Amino acid sequence: MKNDLNIIPDKSHTFSKAHHQYPTNISPQYATNAYGCRLQTDKGEYIDWSMGIGPVIKGYSFKRFNEHLYKKIEKGLALSIPYEYEFEVANKLITNIKFGDQVRFARNGSDVTSAAVRLARHYTNKDLIICNGYHGWQDWYIGATTRNSGVPRSISNLTKKIDGFSCEQLERSFNQNKGNIACLIIEPMIGSEPDIEFLKMAKSLCENNEALLIFDEAWTGFRCHKEGAIGYTGIIPDLVCYGKALGNGVPVSAIVGRKSLMKGFEEVFFSFTHAADPIGLASADFMIDYLDTNFFNALTIKTNVMKTKLVKILQEIEDENLRIKCTSYPGKLVFTAINQHLALEIKTFVQKEFLSMGMLFNMFIALCEDHEQKEIDMCCDTFEIIVKKMNSKDFNLQKETEQHLVKAVFRPQT
Ligand SMILES: Cc1ncc(COP(=O)(O)O)c(C=O)c1O
Repeated sequence: MKNDLNIIPDKSHTFSKAHHQYPTNISPQYATNAYGCRLQTDKGEYIDWSMGIGPVIKGYSFKRFNEHLYKKIEKGLALSIPYEYEFEVANKLITNIKFGDQVRFARNGSDVTSAAVRLARHYTNKDLIICNGYHGWQDWYIGATTRNSGVPRSISNLTKKIDGFSCEQLERSFNQNKGNIACLIIEPMIGSEPDIEFLKMAKSLCENNEALLIFDEAWTGFRCHKEGAIGYTGIIPDLVCYGKALGNGVPVSAIVGRKSLMKGFEEVFFSFTHAADPIGLASADFMIDYLDTNFFNALTIKTNVMKTKLVKILQEIEDENLRIKCTSYPGKLVFTAINQHLALEIKTFVQKEFLSMGMLFNMFIALCEDHEQKEIDMCCDTFEIIVKKMNSKDFNLQKETEQHLVKAVFRPQT
């Protein structure tokens, strides 16, 4: 090996890309390049089902997209005063999503979710935040998780996390924290079709408690629908945050809302050197046009066909303890072990089988345009093999996985 991989802590900059998320000793350690839906790695070529953990919705190394970026690079980077292009792309974004009057661009999902909660605290003059999903690496969110080392308790105590789409927990959290809730920030969908009852309750609790409703659309935006979860569910939040697919792999994110709220950014500090990076703007500019109604119609059909097939295959698992549930929304499929005590073993086994078929898999599928019938068939065939092995008389999950066991990013809460 040319390079010492330990020069980078954990050998990765992103927890969910790290070696401990893939079976030990048999997974590739790093990729060298990528094209379409395929990764070249230190262990050869793999079909990729994670697609950069969501951003790459068209495919890697898309020629027309790259050419558009090169053209913009030639006009200069990091310009010393606001760049004319920022206004053009902001306008295009708002026209496309049919929501809000003002936009601020940034680089990561965490930038805009953190800006949104700071703006909510500024606007409401209240401190508490309620959230339901994963919202990034910053103190206000990570403090409320099991990986909260380094975050002062005084900060952690200001964020209340509920489980997914529990109406009961949501209502209780509003009741317990009455009078001090600045905002409810939610992933409007996590791995399945929207729970409209929950979303309506979220909206009305926010209205009744003078708290802002923020949609964290880092995953759903530019993936489930042309207008993201707002268009898909018809529920309108106060602020919306985009990231991932907006840039097809180039870091770009955005926060959008009505002017009466967004003008708070004239006061609230949300400012950094590369906030409106021209390469990010160029990627958003290109992708907003590329991700048109036809694109989403095709992606939705592809997701639904795949899901129907996979649900049928997975229903054949005989041992209840080994059951895997498949859920989806357009552009994303999620695979969950029903017995959470065996989740890591089941994940390891499934990943091992996928690796042996030349595919990288992390219990979800970020479907992209370049996943074609051939790859989809390979995925379904692999799940058929998995089910067959699980149903065989001498199947021993522990033996299959003990040498290769993956770890959880967040410790399960007890
Ligand atoms: C729903 C959601 N919000 C926010 C984030 C944070 O985005 P980033 O990692 O780009 O900072 C993520 C990242 O996975 C996410 O899934």
